Amino acid sequence: MISDQINHGLNGEPIIPGDKSISHRSIIIPSISNGICEVNNYLKSDDVINTINAFKEMGVRIEEKNNKIIIYGKGLNSLKKPNKEIYLGNSGTSARLLTGLLSSQKFNTILTGDRSLSSRPMNRIVEPLIKMNAKISTNNGSMPIKIHGKSLSNTLLNIKIPSAQIKSGLILAALNTEGITTILEHNITRDHTEIMLEYFEADISIKKEVNKKIIKISGKKDLKSKNIDVPSDLSSSAFFIIAALINKDSHIILRNININSTRNGILTALMKMGANLKFLNNRFANNEEVCDIEVKSSNLIGCELSSDISKLMIDEYPVLAIAASFAKSQSIFKGLGELRVKESDRLELINLNLLRCGINSKITNDDLHISPSNNYIIKNNIIRTDYDHRIAMAFAVMGTKIGPLKISEPNCINTSFPTFVNELNKIGGLIS
Ligand code: S3P
Repeated sequence: MISDQINHGLNGEPIIPGDKSISHRSIIIPSISNGICEVNNYLKSDDVINTINAFKEMGVRIEEKNNKIIIYGKGLNSLKKPNKEIYLGNSGTSARLLTGLLSSQKFNTILTGDRSLSSRPMNRIVEPLIKMNAKISTNNGSMPIKIHGKSLSNTLLNIKIPSAQIKSGLILAALNTEGITTILEHNITRDHTEIMLEYFEADISIKKEVNKKIIKISGKKDLKSKNIDVPSDLSSSAFFIIAALINKDSHIILRNININSTRNGILTALMKMGANLKFLNNRFANNEEVCDIEVKSSNLIGCELSSDISKLMIDEYPVLAIAASFAKSQSIFKGLGELRVKESDRLELINLNLLRCGINSKITNDDLHISPSNNYIIKNNIIRTDYDHRIAMAFAVMGTKIGPLKISEPNCINTSFPTFVNELNKIGGLIS
């Protein structure tokens, strides 16, 4: 429940937790590498804890100490058959990446998830794995996924759906597959898996061509564990960036944010909308680009975004829609079909909740049109989240501008950002 409309600015330095995508990979990759890996600043959220538990259940020694974890990796074939089904909660990343990884192990596993994860499409990862001769069955394309681990065959795989999860699942399968597996990716998607594997000295080559990326993995080569400093999450930062942009007299600084160019579309979009953002101290940490971001209140203008940019910012549309609600002119965000298969049908929920708040919003095909309005509706307003963390946080940001909103199932925020409410309150966001 948002208790009060803020009429002063948001000010200070909120602490943004470690990047979710990189945290998952910082558990998965060291667990199949050789050596000890210390991971600093990992994200301690429900999704990542499910990945940690999965590897503990498969016999990996993982110690948690304050803000770091230590993973004792023993190689590509060191995982043990778990004693029970592996429960992955809400985490699509864990589900797709582990399906790939476990399909080339020598034991059988069953992956399960919560209601939302159990309704998300899994054939997108299962079908290409079957082309590698994997033996996997699903419940009509959904979880539970039953994996009959076995040796796979290297082959050429085309990925047409824009998805880093599919790409990463296939790369993980290829690591334990004899010979060279070639993956042709036809869209730009986040490349944290490739970056971390290069850092861990995998035999992976990457060639970028005009319309595609060619990834070749030579399997059965040992990975060398290294320590990892997880940068802070740009997707989590976006809630704070937009809260500061839309509220008058705001000035915040976010430190050590990952701005990997395969997923920083939100920054391009906001600059196009006239956001006052400064990028400071650009540097690299474990081959990932990071910087500090300074944000000041801005008079935003609407913008049109093509479906191409959607691949570089797919997780940020819920909160970008809030920015668009307070821009001076209309925005059109095109080609958002993938939003329908996220933790909820995000396209429908963004539209429905914007309308509930009195914003002019409509969907045509898979495009979202948002026009500003001054007739905000706050009274008795319930935001429907369907337990989707990013919908809940986006509308908490809406609440900092228009006043008290009742966000249903607010605990879903723990999926990716358990300290969200504290950090927003710390800079003046007033949420209880
Ligand atoms: C992720 C990839 C994206 C993103 C998700 C995290 C990852 O999903 O939406 O939050 O860590 O690889 P898709 O690969 O389904 O687009």
